[in-house]
Amino acid sequence: MRRPDRGATFLLAHVTDPHFRGFAGASPMDFMNKRALGTLNLLVNRTRKHKMELLEALREDLRAQAPDHLALTGDFANVSLPGEWRAALAWIDRCGLEPAAISVIPGNHDAYVESVVASRAFERLFAAYMTNDLAHHPAAASGGVADAGERADYPYVQIRDGVAFVGVSSSVATGDSGAWGRIGDEQLARLEAMLAAPELAGKTRVVLIHHPPVRQKHGEDRNLRDRAALAAVLGRVGADLVLHGHDHQDERSELGGPGGKPIPVIGGGSASYTGGPERRSRYNLFEVEGSRITWVTRAHDEPSDTFREVRREQLA
Ligand SMILES: [Fe+2]
Repeated sequence: MRRPDRGATFLLAHVTDPHFRGFAGASPMDFMNKRALGTLNLLVNRTRKHKMELLEALREDLRAQAPDHLALTGDFANVSLPGEWRAALAWIDRCGLEPAAISVIPGNHDAYVESVVASRAFERLFAAYMTNDLAHHPAAASGGVADAGERADYPYVQIRDGVAFVGVSSSVATGDSGAWGRIGDEQLARLEAMLAAPELAGKTRVVLIHHPPVRQKHGEDRNLRDRAALAAVLGRVGADLVLHGHDHQDERSELGGPGGKPIPVIGGGSASYTGGPERRSRYNLFEVEGSRITWVTRAHDEPSDTFREVRREQLA
């Protein structure tokens, strides 16, 4: 719920790509697949590039900002181990927000191997943050698992005050070394129906997706494969803001809504990245006041070991 001292402004926080570590409970058998290479990469590269201390500092700053809602757009894990997700859940628990004020979707690192995706382990662990206010909607009931990798749990819709969060999954077990994403035709059809649902009329509709819905980087082995189909859906039914992660850097682009009305598309940098000032550990805040949205970035300042506002831009 919106804090009364903020007037009409709804403060939304967006945190993405924390890449928590946690091997507790894992057995050697868990690594007899794509995880073997991923874990090697984790030990050689990610441990150096992603620092858990930065996540703690970010959480402190986030608590101090006291947002009305927190959106987390995936890559909680590195190789989809329950230990990594439990570390994420413990972090979420200490954010100072009620479960109803938190929305979670998975990233490609949370869908690392097919058996984990099929088990729905992620959806069961994070269920409190993936509730669906439109579960009764005819489009939701038409779920079912369609083609391989399709996720029937998505999209979900959470209506909070005047804001509707629409959680999409673009994360599939790729079966190769790629980090590409795909929403799938069935989920896209449900997304279109839900965005157009009367329950969302007059709400600020915020779509959450892990992969960038526009091409930011050339390597198609890491891009959203059906981004053109998503753009077509948003072109027909619109949205007010799209938030994504995946690229570990701040990105701003836009898609066209009905009548050519621009839809801001904002990518957040990684919450735990140790690099230079441009990409170092960061998160975004969105001050939503009806159709007026202001984008604020808070990033870790290494010399002072504190988070500071590094961007304030009006989106719409
Ligand atoms: Fe990712």
